[in-house]
Amino acid sequence: MNDVGNTPRRRLIVPQPIGQLGRDLPDEENALFAQLGGETVFMMGDNPALPTMPEKPQLMDFYRLRFRAMARNHLLQSAKLALDAGLDEKVVLACLLHDIAMGALIRTDHGYWGAQLIAPYVDEEIAWAVRYHQALRFYPDASVGYAYPDAYVRFFGPDYVPPAYIRAAYEEARSHRWYMTSRLVTLNDLYSFEDGVVVDPELFTDIVGRHFRQPREGLGFDNSPVAHMWRSMIWPNNPL
Ligand SMILES: [Fe+2]
Ligand SMILES: [Fe+2]
Repeated sequence: MNDVGNTPRRRLIVPQPIGQLGRDLPDEENALFAQLGGETVFMMGDNPALPTMPEKPQLMDFYRLRFRAMARNHLLQSAKLALDAGLDEKVVLACLLHDIAMGALIRTDHGYWGAQLIAPYVDEEIAWAVRYHQALRFYPDASVGYAYPDAYVRFFGPDYVPPAYIRAAYEEARSHRWYMTSRLVTLNDLYSFEDGVVVDPELFTDIVGRHFRQPREGLGFDNSPVAHMWRSMIWPNNPL
């Protein structure tokens, strides 16, 4: 609830349904609708509690102004690892983007959401690597020294078995010509966050410039099939 412009208004934020399901929380919507009227409206457009996005946002604006610090650091640290290992720029960018869906959008099936989010702007191989890293994370590959993550034992328990669609995605990826690109993403996917390690996003400016086709109108406004996903991060509190 904030005052916007000259007109003092209470702006109500309706929670996004998907984050509420199964949490035994009361459905707030009726109570919020009941408060509408007079100076009380729904939050629409820029939420003053969030940093203002530029009119034509570019990729790194989302990292700086929208992404949760934990996700941002994880992505920057993973990409730095790939950069320091001297890996191909495509792999470095895939590492920088691999968990992008978790930045400010959604965690569930993040590889698939992330791949879709970037598909119009990157080489097909990069989007493919982002999509499949989610499944590949569950399956070791001794040939490159990738083991099942200790963190996953903690996250999901020692008996966890990935669902059939993840197994199928792994098998499909295993025999694909781009397998190693996605596997390298998992190899540079940091298991834990290194405290005190701050990676300057500027480090990736050139690689992003060479491999991420920023739309002239800004992400969210280029009328691409995924523009609405970027807009949802710009205006996450819009009720419609
Ligand atoms: Fe991931
Ligand atoms: Fe990751």
